Amino acid sequence: MTHSHALTQGLRLPILASPMFLVSNPEMVIAQCRSGIVGSFPALNARPQQALAVWLDQIQAALQADRDAGGQPAPYAVNLVIRPQAERFEADLETCVQHRVPIIITSLGDPSRVAQRVHAYGGLVLHDVTSARHARRALAGGADGLILVCAGAGGHAGALSPFALVNEVRRFFDGLIVLGGAITDGRAVLAAQALGADMAYMGTRFIATQESSAVDGYKNMLVSASASDIVYTPHFSGISANYLKPSIVAAGLDPDNLPTVDPAEVRAAGDRQKRWKDIWGAGQGVGGIDDVPAIAELVDRLEAEYRAAQQALREQLDAAAAVQGVTA
Ligand SMILES: Cc1cc2nc3c(=O)[nH]c(=O)nc-3n(C[C@H](O)[C@H](O)[C@H](O)COP(=O)(O)O)c2cc1C
Repeated sequence: MTHSHALTQGLRLPILASPMFLVSNPEMVIAQCRSGIVGSFPALNARPQQALAVWLDQIQAALQADRDAGGQPAPYAVNLVIRPQAERFEADLETCVQHRVPIIITSLGDPSRVAQRVHAYGGLVLHDVTSARHARRALAGGADGLILVCAGAGGHAGALSPFALVNEVRRFFDGLIVLGGAITDGRAVLAAQALGADMAYMGTRFIATQESSAVDGYKNMLVSASASDIVYTPHFSGISANYLKPSIVAAGLDPDNLPTVDPAEVRAAGDRQKRWKDIWGAGQGVGGIDDVPAIAELVDRLEAEYRAAQQALREQLDAAAAVQGVTA
């Protein structure tokens, strides 16, 4: 745990609450930042496109009010899926630049043009990757930091173990690494740091909160599910992602025998949002979710768990050192 980054220094906990399609909203982001962790949302959640500026104004006003009252809110992030020349992407980038969004999380594609625009006003670009090859490409494209989305993450997840991917990436990159995949409690946040990451990327845990836009059935399913209820399949979006099996059953499908699909065809069809809106994404960390708290309460709990895990680790290390002292 020798590594740290300027972004983590002003935070209460080294956590970036990840952007989630149809789930994240301004109320969540404001609560996350006020609680001292980085909050985020995908630009595409604001619809129509003009709503993005309204959301950004709302978030910035709330965080400014918090500062005026003596608070120290964390910075927020917006997720842009890179689709050069696509009308919505270009408009979203422009809106984010106008609002000087502090952190942009880019997914897919080459982040270089986004990086140029965002660096011009002093913002930070973090690119979301699932392999060392993509990590190198993102860095060549000017990303300031990397988000390593590993096996077991909710939504579009990688297939690599965090032990393997962090280790590989740390061999050529000593900047900011955010690690994602099945992290639901404070102990796992500390484990991410022990592994060599600077911050934890947490999504699924925040779906089951009072502020999230998920419907109650979705939140309740997260509370009752465990890791074996998660299925990893390209069936619904053309890219392999993790979903809650019971939501697939509720849609009348057999999650263990999904018809074979051509991923390219599914992506080209582009109608996944409407067709599959009741197929719910979640990571393998669901077994650690037992309730639907307000975000402020959840972050208090994460901090208590994180501090307790630090203390337990210290005691473990001290005990090991004492044994070594005796045997030396
Ligand atoms: C329902 C859902 C929607 C998601 N939507 C997005 C998205 O729009 N953009 C994105 O970059 N990541 C998205 N993700 C992935 C998360 O940002 C993140 O990688 C993941 O939640 C981390 O793993 P965890 O859920 O196990 O904590 C989504 C994840 C979930 C569960």
